[in-house]
Amino acid sequence: MSIAFSAAPGNPKRASITAVTSGKGGVGKTFMAANLAAALTRRGERVLVLDADLGLANLDVVLNLHPKITLHDVFTGKAELTEAILPAPGGFSVLLAGSGLVEYSRLTPEVRDQLMEVIQKLAPRFDRILLDTGAGISDVVLYAVSLADDVMVIATPEPTSLTDAYATIKVLASQQQRRVIQLVVNQTSRPGEGRAIRNQLQQVIDRYVSNGTDTPLKLELLGEIATDASVREAVQRRQLLLESIPGCAAAKAVGAIAEKLSP
Ligand SMILES: Nc1ncnc2c1ncn2[C@@H]1O[C@H](COP(=O)(O)OP(=O)(O)O)[C@@H](O)[C@H]1O
Ligand SMILES: [Mg+2]
Repeated sequence: MSIAFSAAPGNPKRASITAVTSGKGGVGKTFMAANLAAALTRRGERVLVLDADLGLANLDVVLNLHPKITLHDVFTGKAELTEAILPAPGGFSVLLAGSGLVEYSRLTPEVRDQLMEVIQKLAPRFDRILLDTGAGISDVVLYAVSLADDVMVIATPEPTSLTDAYATIKVLASQQQRRVIQLVVNQTSRPGEGRAIRNQLQQVIDRYVSNGTDTPLKLELLGEIATDASVREAVQRRQLLLESIPGCAAAKAVGAIAEKLSP
């Protein structure tokens, strides 16, 4: 079951939390989280991206940030949460994690409590929080996703990515009783490929996946993003695609997804 943070009394509004996750790695989660955050910021939202890939973080690399303070310092009591919230180039805020920290490869009770506490403290300060998670179904990833209201699965049309996306969706349905899972098909090669993949996955879900509720699990296609050389170029330059090459097809596709989420 996902854990819903209720709004504190006197503070009726709190961030809507979306986990950006995937079965297979390298499919575009961090690209999506960073650029979607920029697009939502342009739409007037106060957005924070939290690097929830706790041991192998790379949001800092994509955004060309060199953080002195990370979530690890907050978790170990070396820094205050407010000191770790940094401004990112797109006008949104980020909370970065460390890289090569083996202590975050397993979900310990300490990590559980600390991550939950951090998100609880952040929620009243933003309109939206995006959790850029690691790939797969490790307990750390599944726990991070459980803290989110919505889950966005990124998949590419490759058979390996689709198999892993299906496996992830299946686990999220049964463990967290999800009724809706958002899908973004990244690196498509023809228009309509995203819709076809969504329909294909939905068919398998309808046959083989149960979320233990009376409402069947619905895959909601948020959009498709074509393979676009501009994405690689922006990552190489360590810039946001929406800022460096805003007119390209992939940037427009991310903008359309932001519009769908924040009409
Ligand atoms: N739509 C796209 N077109 C071309 N290349 C892409 C696209 N999306 C992602 N990539 C490439 O894939 C790489 C990995 O993306 P990333 O967001 O780091 O994946 P993840 O966070 O899922 O591991 C990017 O650095 C980029 O080069
Ligand atoms: Mg990533």
